Amino acid sequence: MLYRPYTANDFAALYAVEEICFQPPSRFGRGYMRHLVSAANSATWIAEEDGALAGFAIVEWSRRRGGISAYIQTIEVAPEQRGHGVGSELLCRVEGSARTAQAVTIWLHVDAQNLQAIRLYEAHGYGCAGREEDYYASGRAGLLYAKRLNTESPAN
Ligand SMILES: CC(C)(COP(=O)(O)OP(=O)(O)OC[C@H]1O[C@@H](n2cnc3c(N)ncnc32)[C@H](O)[C@@H]1OP(=O)(O)O)[C@@H](O)C(=O)NCCC(=O)NCCS
Repeated sequence: MLYRPYTANDFAALYAVEEICFQPPSRFGRGYMRHLVSAANSATWIAEEDGALAGFAIVEWSRRRGGISAYIQTIEVAPEQRGHGVGSELLCRVEGSARTAQAVTIWLHVDAQNLQAIRLYEAHGYGCAGREEDYYASGRAGLLYAKRLNTESPAN
């Protein structure tokens, strides 16, 4: 598996994975996805096998009162590629980008019913920091997960 930063040529394949992984209303629209991957304060990592896009992850960051904070917009792995550590490696890559941006915390929303994703985040040291009812849709709560980043680690 090759891990590399996103380029504009990846967009169609990236969005095809989004369409497989999420159904409306949870799916990002094309325009919003284009905005996310091209924003100056964001990084998108691609996992690629034999020239085919196997997964991707997007992180963005902004300055808050307590310092720079990073937010994982999404991590998505094509169904046939799951369970081999791709999601885990993508998570490490976006954390690396957040550290490079000097972020001191990283956080995300996850569907309270998405147990696979929750296991992945907890295995990487994220803790549940809140719950927002009806975040994804009526009756579908979102959980907030967060982790402090050690910006003095060698990953800088
Ligand atoms: C959540 C998601 C990104 C996880 O991706 P993934 O590539 O399957 O993640 P990993 O392979 O790193 O970890 C998944 C499991 O495989 C196991 N695993 C990792 N490497 C492995 C390997 N080499 N061999 C066998 N198992 C392995 C992990 O221990 C983990 O097991 P667990 O779920 O029992 O804890 C993926 O399920 C997905 O794309 N879901 C749909 C989109 C989504 O919901 N994204 C989250 C948005 S918040």
